[in-house]
Amino acid sequence: MSNFNFIQMADPQVGMYSRFSGMDIEATALLREHKLNVKDAPKIEGLDQERINLSKALEQFEEITPAFVVVCGDMVDQAGDEDQIALIRETLGKYGVNIPVHWVAGNHDIGVNNLIPNRDSVDFYRSEFGDDFYSFNHDESKFIVLNSVLLDRPEDLPDEHKLQMELLGDTLLSRESLDSEHVVVFMHHPLFLNNAEEADADFAWAPSPPNQLPGYWTVPLERRRPVVKLLRDAEVQTVFAGHWHRNHIASDGGLEVVVTSALGYPLGDDPSGYRVVSVSDDDLSHRFRVL
Ligand SMILES: [Fe+2]
Repeated sequence: MSNFNFIQMADPQVGMYSRFSGMDIEATALLREHKLNVKDAPKIEGLDQERINLSKALEQFEEITPAFVVVCGDMVDQAGDEDQIALIRETLGKYGVNIPVHWVAGNHDIGVNNLIPNRDSVDFYRSEFGDDFYSFNHDESKFIVLNSVLLDRPEDLPDEHKLQMELLGDTLLSRESLDSEHVVVFMHHPLFLNNAEEADADFAWAPSPPNQLPGYWTVPLERRRPVVKLLRDAEVQTVFAGHWHRNHIASDGGLEVVVTSALGYPLGDDPSGYRVVSVSDDDLSHRFRVL
């Protein structure tokens, strides 16, 4: 009999409050044109705001007593930044000594220039955070973590992309998965924002950030399709994601993509927060909790 909670969060993105503060009027206006809700704020130096957010979250987790925590990517703003990684280690990393914390790779953790993973960036990520695609079990349920940055831009690592797809296929179609009460997937990029067959073009309500190609917020259709097929064949119902820094739920033919606002700097109207997911034998429900 299963009856437990877990936490799903995304984008603590340590360092972003500093980068997104103290901007000039033009830079702010450009970001707002792209529907990025940048706040007018004097320059924030250092990582204090992220430290506050992370401590608040950990305090709140004391009452929730989650079975585990999944961090859906963008732990840091700048891949490889020692201070940013150190703050994640001191907070979520320490919490993980007692309660399992499962990391998911985000574009800011594993992408060169926040976009394209290569051999060095993936090896560095693995040395800091462990595997980037893997699965784990809790009670009778199965949880699968994907590296969506590799799905987004696999050009420098085609073999890793192939390996990840094989692992996803094997894991989903294993007897163990088929017998699981729930099979849940976590990734950084939302698989889609509206429907599974949407093109890699921007919605008016979700344009890509300045200087990015259309489709920045999701997994490109070419590599989304095979993933969706595998998930549908295995009757997976829920994919949790982040990357968009606001809450959003899209559902297509029984496959739900749940996007959770940032634990760090929010880019929409939703405040910073995380999701509490409640799992029982025949139900999986979730609610967003404001920090
Ligand atoms: Fe991201």
